[in-house]
Amino acid sequence: MSNIKVLDKEFEPYLTEEIIQEKISDLANQLNKEYAGKRPLFLSILNGSFLFTADLFKQITIEAEVCFIKLASYKGTTSSGNVITAIGLDTNVNGRDIIIVEDIIDTGKTLHHFLPQLESSSPASIKIAVLLNKTEALAYPVKVDYACFDIPNKFVVGYGLDYDGLGRNTKSIYQLKA
Ligand code: IMP
Ligand code: MG
Repeated sequence: MSNIKVLDKEFEPYLTEEIIQEKISDLANQLNKEYAGKRPLFLSILNGSFLFTADLFKQITIEAEVCFIKLASYKGTTSSGNVITAIGLDTNVNGRDIIIVEDIIDTGKTLHHFLPQLESSSPASIKIAVLLNKTEALAYPVKVDYACFDIPNKFVVGYGLDYDGLGRNTKSIYQLKA
C-alpha cells in the first residue's frame, strides 16, 4: 500500500481493509449475542460513520433497526454551553435499546453534549460503539462500550473519515505523516 495525498497533506497506510473488516465482524458477533431478542436501534452519526455502519449492520443477524442522524450544535443557555440536537431522528427511542455508532471518539465533546438529550427521551439503554477510539484525547466523561481500535492521538482519514470533506472514499485508514 502506498501513501495518499489529501489536499495539502500526506497520509501513510495505517489500518488495512482486512483488519478493519475483521474487527467489525468481531463486534457484530458480540452484538448479535448481547442484543438477541432485544431489537436494538442502531443510531448512526453522520457523516463519518456511514461506511462503518453499513459494514457492521450487514453482519447483524438479529432483529434490529438502523437510523441515521446528524448532530448540529448551537449555543444554548445550559450550564454546559453547547446544545446538540439530532437532525433526522424519526424513530421513537422511548424504551428502546440504543447503540450509538460513531466513526471516531476524539475529545468526546460531541457525544457528551448529545447524550443528555437522548436520555431525556427515556430509552431503555444506551451504548456507544466506535470504530476508532482516541483514548489519549478524551477530555469529556464519555464511556465507550465497544471500540474496534484504540488509536493514538494522530489525525487519520479514510473509510468514512475526512480531512476537510475529502479522503472518505478508501477501504483502509491512513494516518497523517509526521
Ligand atoms: P469529538 O467530539 O472531539 O469526540 O470529535 C468527534 C468528531 O471529530 C468525529 O466524529 C470526527 O468527525 C472528528 N474527528 C476527530 N478526530 C478525527 C480524525 O483523526 N480524523 C477525522 N475526523 C476526526
Ligand atoms: Mg463523526
